[in-house]
Amino acid sequence: MDRQARRVWRADAPGVTISVAKPLLPPASALLPYLERIDAARWYSNGGPLVREFEARLAKRLGVSEREIVLVSNATQGLALSLQAVDLPPGTLCMMPAWSFAASAHAAVLAGLVPYFVDVDEASWSLTPELAEHWLRRAPGRVGAVMPVAPFGRPLDGPAWERFRRENDCWVAIDAAAAFDGLRASECPSVVSLHATKLLGVGEGAFVVARDGALIDAIRTRANFGFLGNREAAMKATNAKLSEYAAAVGLAGLDRWDETRAAFARVANEYVRALDPVPNVQLQQGYGREWVSTTANVVLPEGRLEPLEDAFEEVGIGTRRWWGDGLAAHLAFVSSPRAPTPVTQRLAATVIGLPCWSDLPNEMIARVAEVVAEVCV
Ligand SMILES: Cc1ncc(COP(=O)(O)O)c(C=O)c1O
Repeated sequence: MDRQARRVWRADAPGVTISVAKPLLPPASALLPYLERIDAARWYSNGGPLVREFEARLAKRLGVSEREIVLVSNATQGLALSLQAVDLPPGTLCMMPAWSFAASAHAAVLAGLVPYFVDVDEASWSLTPELAEHWLRRAPGRVGAVMPVAPFGRPLDGPAWERFRRENDCWVAIDAAAAFDGLRASECPSVVSLHATKLLGVGEGAFVVARDGALIDAIRTRANFGFLGNREAAMKATNAKLSEYAAAVGLAGLDRWDETRAAFARVANEYVRALDPVPNVQLQQGYGREWVSTTANVVLPEGRLEPLEDAFEEVGIGTRRWWGDGLAAHLAFVSSPRAPTPVTQRLAATVIGLPCWSDLPNEMIARVAEVVAEVCV
């Protein structure tokens, strides 16, 4: 088994005393009133009353109209649909940061595009419009779309990406999978995951939001077999709808969102406090101070990642290199074009995800920080 595969994260894995993640969705008692509504309505999917209510409540939170948001089955499908909606010729390049999760590239391939990997900005860990413009001019083919990624929930500059889209005549679909907390809606579609490991987890699910009702209509149609009010498939499409049961979990999750956010903010603030005295170790920029996430990532000094993993393993602390060596390293994408990615490679060799869950006790955070300090100072 390789080093990565050995890193455990399940709470019940043998020898683990502090797991890296321990998702907590609303309990059965909080779901019951919603489940009873499903029983009464006998409406289980296909844009039922709970899905519509969930969309309406999300729209209100994000300050958009109900026509500007659509729930889908997961973020991978949401991203693919956000790219497909503009009908780019097959084989067109979709630029994206190499520092991301496999789903970003899978979504481009699902949409008939070819991922084109470029590097990220060292401070923000993300592809900026300036970097995208630089690589647009040096691309090995026509770039029809860009998929910036909000790394681990750090929000992106929506207006800057709107400008990039206008000035470069290039489609932009934002992978905001983990960015529920910091998200600001823009004209460019943003896709937020509702996977169990995310802030507003429903199990499997996602939403796409854009200040562009026509675009969201198109995504809604393509998530429902391409049907336009009848049973005729009018375009290339799929089935990516969210069920009423998932919406029930989402509504119960919104009912307790303030507590969930406060719990993750407490964890983040505790990490900020505990790691502040450790020189050369930095939490991700903005984490805890500007936005919260279900992952707590730190940059270590060079050469300390594997020794820290070994030290954690010895004392039963789970960790994850959430994005491994980045997209360009995946076997599935070996034939995709790529620019040099030195920053991504440096991040892959120095960034590690620490234990992070809503009820992670402060003493455990202190213990994690102690081991980090022992290995890195
Ligand atoms: C950056 C990024 N994009 C996309 C996804 C895919 O989300 P989903 O599991 O909802 O398909 C994830 C999942 O963690 C992710 O981290």
